[in-house]
Amino acid sequence: QAFFKPIHSAAPPSPTKRHTKISVIGAGNVGMAIAQTILTQDLADELVLVDAKPEKLRGEMLDLQHAAAFLPRTKIIASVDYSVTSGSDLCIVTAGARQIQDESRLNLLQRNVSLFQKIIPPLAQYSPETILLIVSNPVDVLTYVAWKLSGFPSNRVIGSGTNLDSSRFRFLIADHLDVNAQDVQAYIVGEHGDSSVALWSSISVGGVPILSFLEKQQIAYEKETLKNIHKAVIGGAYEVISLKGYTSWAIGYSVANLARSIIRNQRKIHPISVLASGFYGIEGGELFLSLPAQLGRVGVLGVANVHLTDEEAQQLRESAKTILEVQNQLKI
Ligand code: NAI
Ligand code: 2OP
Repeated sequence: QAFFKPIHSAAPPSPTKRHTKISVIGAGNVGMAIAQTILTQDLADELVLVDAKPEKLRGEMLDLQHAAAFLPRTKIIASVDYSVTSGSDLCIVTAGARQIQDESRLNLLQRNVSLFQKIIPPLAQYSPETILLIVSNPVDVLTYVAWKLSGFPSNRVIGSGTNLDSSRFRFLIADHLDVNAQDVQAYIVGEHGDSSVALWSSISVGGVPILSFLEKQQIAYEKETLKNIHKAVIGGAYEVISLKGYTSWAIGYSVANLARSIIRNQRKIHPISVLASGFYGIEGGELFLSLPAQLGRVGVLGVANVHLTDEEAQQLRESAKTILEVQNQLKI
């Protein structure tokens, strides 16, 4: 007997409302921050967690399920077996080694490539139409590795890239000018890491191009101040890691922000890691790095034609070179 007595014959569910399934691989600090942000933002009908440690995984699943009374309704499941990810719209990969104090992201590469050889093929097999969103570091090279291992078209393989660095950048600029970070449009592009590039020439605050405004008003602005803000962006993750051991909340929000653009077909522009060969004179081989790209339900829709000064374009090509040098040492 049904718990509720129907008061009228139930209408069939609207055919336009799709069941949305998101899988998060790696239930560590980063995976769980992403999972909980996705839940609170009501982005999925079904949320799947996969990790190699069954006890920790079940503990995390139960802990989230116990919040059901306070959250939008989402089915939460977890398993060490990749078959639970079957039919995912989006697979977010956070599994892997993370940096210890003062270790660079690029140093994690070989350990995480070996993990990706176990993770990416079953994800691609169980969800051949999914979008892969890579977060594990070094994210640009691992996005390339995931692209190769999955055999997917490049529009469906994305790295979280400098969406996070750009948020750090916007926060620091907003703090400096005492405005709201959401009114600051500013991109960091290139490697998610030490060789990232700040696009100073295209920053605007409330629609006002900030550098030309300062020049016109003859407000003295210190080149050194700008450099220091970019330094603080690069140093930000190192500082958090030295203080609390890992970073988690900001990447959780950053990835949920990307998941929303994909799942809800927002066509928003995000600085994310995409197949970058050929853009802005980047050459020397196939590689992924962050460029402002438009995201929708099918993944990457295109790369925005943001104007770069000669200096910025040169720095971007240098960043590409850094990534390629590391990538060329790989055997996949
Ligand atoms: P963590 O150590 O807390 O979690 C990693 C998880 O991966 C663990 O739960 C572990 O059991 C799991 N794992 C290991 N092998 C696995 C396998 N074969 N299959 C499934 N799961 C497996 O590390 P944390 O702090 O969550 O960091 C994860 C990754 O995210 C690191 O590579 C870190 O550098 C990266 N990261 C990337 C950011 C970005 O902006 N792209 C930001 C912050 C972290
Ligand atoms: C971050 O930038 C460590 O890549 C990680 O927070």
